[in-house]
Amino acid sequence: MVSSSQAPLRVLTGITPSGTPHLGNYVGSIRHSVRQSVAPDVQSFFFLADYHALIKVQQPALIQRSTLEIAASWLACGLDPEHVTFYRQSDIPEIPELTWFLTCVTGKGVLNRAHAYKAQLDKNVAKGEDPDADVTAGLFMYPVLMGADILMFNAHKVPVGRDQVQHIEMARDMAQRFNHQYGEHFTLPDAEIDDAVATLPGLDGRKMSKSYGNTIPLFAPRAYLRKQITSIVTDSRAPGEPKDTEGSALFQIYQAFADADETDMLRKAYADGIGWGDAKQLLFERIDLEVAPLRARYDELIANPAEIERLLLIGAEKARALSQPFMTSLRHAVGLRNLAAGKDKGGAKAAKVAKPSFKQYREKADGLFYFKLLDARGETLLQSRGFTSPQEAGRTIAVLQAQRGEALASLAEQLEPIDTEGTRAVTEALEALAEATSANQGS
Ligand code: TRP
Repeated sequence: MVSSSQAPLRVLTGITPSGTPHLGNYVGSIRHSVRQSVAPDVQSFFFLADYHALIKVQQPALIQRSTLEIAASWLACGLDPEHVTFYRQSDIPEIPELTWFLTCVTGKGVLNRAHAYKAQLDKNVAKGEDPDADVTAGLFMYPVLMGADILMFNAHKVPVGRDQVQHIEMARDMAQRFNHQYGEHFTLPDAEIDDAVATLPGLDGRKMSKSYGNTIPLFAPRAYLRKQITSIVTDSRAPGEPKDTEGSALFQIYQAFADADETDMLRKAYADGIGWGDAKQLLFERIDLEVAPLRARYDELIANPAEIERLLLIGAEKARALSQPFMTSLRHAVGLRNLAAGKDKGGAKAAKVAKPSFKQYREKADGLFYFKLLDARGETLLQSRGFTSPQEAGRTIAVLQAQRGEALASLAEQLEPIDTEGTRAVTEALEALAEATSANQGS
């Protein structure tokens, strides 16, 4: 019987499905985050940020295709949907609901300073256009939706590129403001920037990015991969002339795939005047060595979208086991409540009204220790499973009292299952109990 209150490290990774995954996404995010997710003491969340995609992409078929491709890429690279929570943002209706709650505690001035929005504004001003030309409210609200993604699952760490750090700081700010106003509900997230993770240059030497059109797709067929690599920019030095590794996109891409010894070999080859054609062949072979087995899995997965859909729906269920009860507590916290459930801060008067209660008992039949949560009328709302000692039962009650609805998912194994309605009722009862207790202590 476990009742660990020490929460594992929760790491959350999201990708916006607005294009085809490329080598830059692989080296900069996918490879690292999938490896990290294997650790037993890490609880990982991987999701497709398809609501975010709507901000930039108005081509429905492209969003559908990109969602499939990114999901298949993660799986092909070894993501284990049994071990992590793997889901699609738009399958979690609690996320847009939380977005609204956070919208109401976020200063407009804070959003005015968000990079993505400001960049568009500056561009318009530079062109002498209306500052808000082509700026949707979606672009403006982007950081709040992202805050909801992160806070919904109380992530501790969010691995991101430098361009996203500001968004994590904003999420932190939203969490702080909400907690200050309504009590401690949210974990304050931290951005995790791994400097060892390379930013990959693209075909033209600038950062590999969709917006520069200089990407090499991660799972293109071999022949296409070779062709793309052939088109990486180099200088005009002839075979036999020593080459600079400094500023060589080809060298940097190689380094992102090779180990230290291999990289030293290429450095030496550069100094010895390797021809660009041969260097490109080496790069092609090195990338293909790593990517070929993944590509084979990717092709299989892409050919079977129903299987990916199935995995995502299972993931959504897993995610909602957390988000639903959490949202119930949050609704209660802000005052969206059952009107019949008594009011907050009623003081001594409220404390005298009949309230929910825990009953602990021992079952003669199996000798185990149990508890149940009863509502004010004595009806059972929640039934525990058997514990081997009364202390264990007591500790589980304490976790429920401290974390209320938010504890229901982590205690699922110690409790008889309840449905959504039951979850709502239990959450309300636990909140009412907590209020009555603090009202008593206050007087
Ligand atoms: N904005 C991120 C990107 O474009 C994707 C994203 C959305 C995300 N929600 C998130 C990343 C939450 C981390 C956490 O890359």
